[in-house]
Amino acid sequence: MDQLTIKDIPQKDFENKKVLIRVDFNVPQENKNGKISISNDLRIKASLPTIKYLIECKAKVTLVSHLGRPKGFDNDFKMDTVAKRLSELLGQKVLKLNDSVGVEVQNAVESLKPGEVCLLENIRFYKEEETNDSDFARNLAKPFDIYVNDAFGTSHRAHASTTGVSAFLSPCLSGLLLQKEVDSLNKILTNPIRPFTTILGGSKISSKIEVLKQLIPKVDTLLIGGAMAFTFIRAKEGEIGDSLYEEKCIPLIKEIDSLKEEHAVALILPEDMLCAKKEDLENGKQNKELHVYPINKIPKGYTGLDIGPESIKKFIKLISQSKTLFWNGPMGMFEDNQFMDGTKAVAEALTEATKKKSVTVVGGGDSVSAIEKLNISFDSFSHVSTGGGASIEFIEGKTLPGIACLDKKVSIKK
Ligand code: 3PG
Repeated sequence: MDQLTIKDIPQKDFENKKVLIRVDFNVPQENKNGKISISNDLRIKASLPTIKYLIECKAKVTLVSHLGRPKGFDNDFKMDTVAKRLSELLGQKVLKLNDSVGVEVQNAVESLKPGEVCLLENIRFYKEEETNDSDFARNLAKPFDIYVNDAFGTSHRAHASTTGVSAFLSPCLSGLLLQKEVDSLNKILTNPIRPFTTILGGSKISSKIEVLKQLIPKVDTLLIGGAMAFTFIRAKEGEIGDSLYEEKCIPLIKEIDSLKEEHAVALILPEDMLCAKKEDLENGKQNKELHVYPINKIPKGYTGLDIGPESIKKFIKLISQSKTLFWNGPMGMFEDNQFMDGTKAVAEALTEATKKKSVTVVGGGDSVSAIEKLNISFDSFSHVSTGGGASIEFIEGKTLPGIACLDKKVSIKK
């Protein structure tokens, strides 16, 4: 990456320094009988290398994050459970503060000893965070010497804690997670080992159009699963029964088709789909009656909810022949066990590819939830991104403000 990382400056430059690290601890939580717990701590674990490194450098470490989308102060979105989990993972006390700016924070940060860690309260309790208010950013930065951004998942947001603070602190550095995310995505985008296959899924093609346009010139093969495949089929007037598709995106399919021709890309759609009766879905029936139909011959009254067995075989074969793989989006409605085979097959084929030394990168969001549901270890892939929206915007070629505000390798701000 072009930005300076925490490893680019001497360790001693961190000693005794008050370092503010923006992390993305926006983790899913569940509330069981009034007891809130974290249901997936991937994002906390992913920032440990940065936090541990700065502890080792004897910095005074303060972490800041958002959690959810609260409208003002909200007990349900306090950072206490996160602080508890972080403390367990670090094996040391994490001082949880009740505010993110002001005198209490200033005093607590002043009292930190080298190697100690504190966590500020949810930064989104202040509306000034999202408006990137300059005075608020100045106050947030006030107790600190150095800024580190390790929140890849939030780098697409120009907020006070992701970009605003950088105007008041120097140097502004990338953490190790942010660096890993950027390097992993750049690796597949700029110089992939071929053949390079991308597997895209999910329900909405509208949210992936720009990604498709960016990826087609770079890939050899594009596998499309999930409900987004139906918009392609409708564009060719195939019969998709009552399956989901996006009428407004049909004109865009022509663009995608000509781009695919121009770059000689094999765009592979599922041949068959696992379908359920519409009435079973409407009635919320547990064991739905299932039928496999060719994707372009689904009868009325049926909805395609997963790729079918022939498509699974074909996708597995193409994945096994690839040397670089990027996967974003499930193949079907994996939340329901009856429709999870396609997603499971893709996830497992990727883990096999990783064993054979192919580069496998999983974009965040639903694919990560699917991997979790399947109980597959994140270590079975070369890289699992912690960013949902951020990884999509990165692949779309957009400049992420939380990265752009960091110091470049050539110049440290004075
Ligand atoms: C995410 O979960 O994608 C990031 O934490 C950003 O959260 P946001 O979409 O609420 O800004």
